[in-house]
Amino acid sequence: MIFEKFSRIGIIPVVVLDDPKDAAPIAEVLSKNGLPCAEIAFRTPAAEEATRIMSREFPDMLIGAGTILTTDQADIAMNAGAKFIASPGLNPKIVQYSIDNSIPVIPGTQTPSEMEQALELGLKVVKFFPAEQAGGLKMIKAVSKAFTDLKFMPTGGLNASNVKDYLMYNRIIACCGSWLIKRSLVAAGEWAKINALVKDAVAIVKTVRGTGEKR
Ligand code: 3PG
Repeated sequence: MIFEKFSRIGIIPVVVLDDPKDAAPIAEVLSKNGLPCAEIAFRTPAAEEATRIMSREFPDMLIGAGTILTTDQADIAMNAGAKFIASPGLNPKIVQYSIDNSIPVIPGTQTPSEMEQALELGLKVVKFFPAEQAGGLKMIKAVSKAFTDLKFMPTGGLNASNVKDYLMYNRIIACCGSWLIKRSLVAAGEWAKINALVKDAVAIVKTVRGTGEKR
């Protein structure tokens, strides 16, 4: 079950790629540090090819596609090997299409109305986006009182300083964010720095949950 895997991994790196040549080195640094997962943001032309490369060369990794705004993009991502799709908002058309095609889907939500809509569509896990800007952990805890079955994957504004508090809350499956694979560090080829950020993230998951997947 994909959500059990997310929960074990704890932190899902959001990866915005400018060049598909960076796909394999990024996957390498993630998997060798015990974070075998990535959400490739489909907002650059490199996303499709990067998804294909990572899925093919790192078949044990959980590679998914983020920023999916249309069902056509969902098809493109899945054909490239994505194992899940995520969106910034809740588009009922995309959610229903994903359910009909057995694609694990995690839409973004921010308001109780969107969360109700997700439940109505049959989902049990949603993103909370953009998490920090929309009220952070306090907001998640407040809505969790009403939505007793809903679980969250907060995304947006998370970093090494605040992610631990999110992970400690039992209604949070995993946290997502771009702070590990910083676009500027990738562009500058700063692989040692990226390695350190990933290592730190895995250590945080281990501290909080006693897991952190090792291959
Ligand atoms: C995004 O869509 O870019 C993700 O939400 C990541 O947000 P972040 O860059 O604030 O981590």
